[in-house]
Amino acid sequence: MQDNTTLTLGRPDDFHLHLRDGAALSAVVAFTARQFGRALVMPNLKPPVTTVAIAAGYRERILRAVGENASFDPLMTLYLTDNTATDEVARVADSDFVHAFKYYPAGATTNSDSGVSALKNVYPVLDAMQRHGVILCVHGEVTDPTTDVFDREAIFVEGALQQIVRDFPALKIVVEHITTREAAEFVAAMSPNIAATITPQHLLYNRTSIFTGGIRPHLYCLPILKRETHRLALIDAATSGSPKFFLGTDSAPHAKNAKEACCGAAGCFTSHAALELYAEAFNADDSLDKLDDFASRFGAAFYGLPRNVGTVTLRRESWTPPDDFAFGNETIVPLTVGRTLPWKLL
Ligand code: DOR
Ligand code: ZN
Repeated sequence: MQDNTTLTLGRPDDFHLHLRDGAALSAVVAFTARQFGRALVMPNLKPPVTTVAIAAGYRERILRAVGENASFDPLMTLYLTDNTATDEVARVADSDFVHAFKYYPAGATTNSDSGVSALKNVYPVLDAMQRHGVILCVHGEVTDPTTDVFDREAIFVEGALQQIVRDFPALKIVVEHITTREAAEFVAAMSPNIAATITPQHLLYNRTSIFTGGIRPHLYCLPILKRETHRLALIDAATSGSPKFFLGTDSAPHAKNAKEACCGAAGCFTSHAALELYAEAFNADDSLDKLDDFASRFGAAFYGLPRNVGTVTLRRESWTPPDDFAFGNETIVPLTVGRTLPWKLL
């Protein structure tokens, strides 16, 4: 439902989220539980979440941190490694709370050291996933340190991703946090088995934003923001009405000290205002009528889940989020630092 000043959506899902663990988890999870019915929780803890048994324990800690009053369902993922057993795929297929494996090329991003070092190493596991109907979530960047950082996604798409799709045509794949025209076009052209998530930062900013008036570490994430032409391609994809593109924030909290450093960490924190940021991006394209499907319907359909019960409502109202939030003994600075937002969740 939409009038000039309010927008009501089905209760949405975040299909790509970093919650961390311990005090960090306790500091951030309420932001997500407040607006989303479910979130697909990334497994890149230290050590990573590699088995259904480990994911069960992590899920319990998340539910404890959420508290009893909130109705929030954490959808768990397992971290794919060179040593993942094919038996684990069967356990995922049998489980009702693990929904995907996450493929990090080793060294691609934060806590990816245990990731896959060569695609062929996981072929038996990908084959088992294809047979069992288990979804593969992909961090789509090549890791060769000599490859220009702005080219890493496009090269991954035309190389490894093409190869996976060719060799496992029935495997369901989510290309996570796409950032390029090449990735958007590839996903759109493939079978309905291939989908993608899109973050708010990649819809709102381009690579020049990182250097506007100085260097802005809170806009730094991986895959890194790209040229404006790519941002526009992502806006087109997100607002196209195609069920292949859906919401995944990739909200990734890091302490302020780790981001504002001589070698700053990758990751943007957005879960304090996630829906508001998407509403801003869709509104700027005059496409608010497309947000409900993107945020509340397409992701659930791809994952074979029912729609959430209930709704959320946003109002057109200018507000300024806090410049920082408590994060254990430290603080987090959000993506939105220093600016006002035009939409507010009621
Ligand atoms: O910027 C990022 N941060 N990209 C990722 O893929 C991981 C994430 C994190 O965990 O901080
Ligand atoms: Zn992520």
